[in-house]
Amino acid sequence: MFDTISMLVNAFGPSGRENRVAEVVTQMIKDKVDEISSDAMGNLIAVKKGSGKKIMLAAHMDEIGLIITTIDDKGFLRFGTVGGVLPLISLGQRVVFENGLTGVVWYEESIESMKDAKIDKMYIDIGAKTREQARELVEIGDMAVFEGRPVEQNGLIISKALDDRVGCAILAELARRCPATDNEIYYVFTTQEEVGLRGARTAAYAIRPDLAIAIDVTRTGDTPKSKPGAVSLGEGPAIKVKDNSVIAHPRIRERLVDCARENGIPFQFEVVDKGGTDAGSIHITAGGIPSGGVSIPTRFIHSASEIVDIKDVENAARLLEAFIKF
Ligand code: CO
Ligand code: ZN
Repeated sequence: MFDTISMLVNAFGPSGRENRVAEVVTQMIKDKVDEISSDAMGNLIAVKKGSGKKIMLAAHMDEIGLIITTIDDKGFLRFGTVGGVLPLISLGQRVVFENGLTGVVWYEESIESMKDAKIDKMYIDIGAKTREQARELVEIGDMAVFEGRPVEQNGLIISKALDDRVGCAILAELARRCPATDNEIYYVFTTQEEVGLRGARTAAYAIRPDLAIAIDVTRTGDTPKSKPGAVSLGEGPAIKVKDNSVIAHPRIRERLVDCARENGIPFQFEVVDKGGTDAGSIHITAGGIPSGGVSIPTRFIHSASEIVDIKDVENAARLLEAFIKF
């Protein structure tokens, strides 16, 4: 599982630029599914045919990033955000552009307090001396992502972009296992989740599944003085009850709980008031689609060093495998 996750997190893929991730996924699963295609939004949709229910499993390929807005005459890049990038968390990070160029995120040192370290007081230094030199390397509108190579340690994985390549890894592993079922399984690797759950909406409309599950990350409440939260690292995948985008369909939530209990899989309940997942757009598409979520407890979401427990990842795959077999 670590190798699968590594290959996926290493692919460059901010929102709207997911094609490299899609290529990695395609190579991983193309021999194990009956059809694989992409749509106008860039969603990658793989189908394992069946005569039973149409089940859509969705994980988003995009990661958060920075986008160049202006380049000053000394060659420093000003930027905007792609998805939920927190200014303080970005400071001092290395970022990488699609062409491999590395930059460092820094701030105007005249600011009085780190509270004022807003994105518009920050810049990316790529070591260029002039605007012209910078423009030989990057252009307005180019995107960069955090650098943060994957590390396996004490049964945990530390990496950038685990949100939501860990979900992509679970779907890819599941597709490769080819679970025996009469149901028709749609493995959907979605785009532009971080900017508004966009890809999942068109994919769900085109597929019109009987039900859907989004696989994504959820924050934990188990670090020093963290915001209270019920979910901890290593205590099992979280079955979504509610987030800010969806209230999970009760029958899907109950079915997930039953599958976990029947198979001795530990689980937790996810009830959060911030953040959303692809289920948020899927469940209100095409006349309404019963939807739920399986979430991987994750520390430091949207940083260059997100942390998951590999047991939670493996148990999420087991849970989904049991779920799609009914
Ligand atoms: Co996210
Ligand atoms: Zn996510």
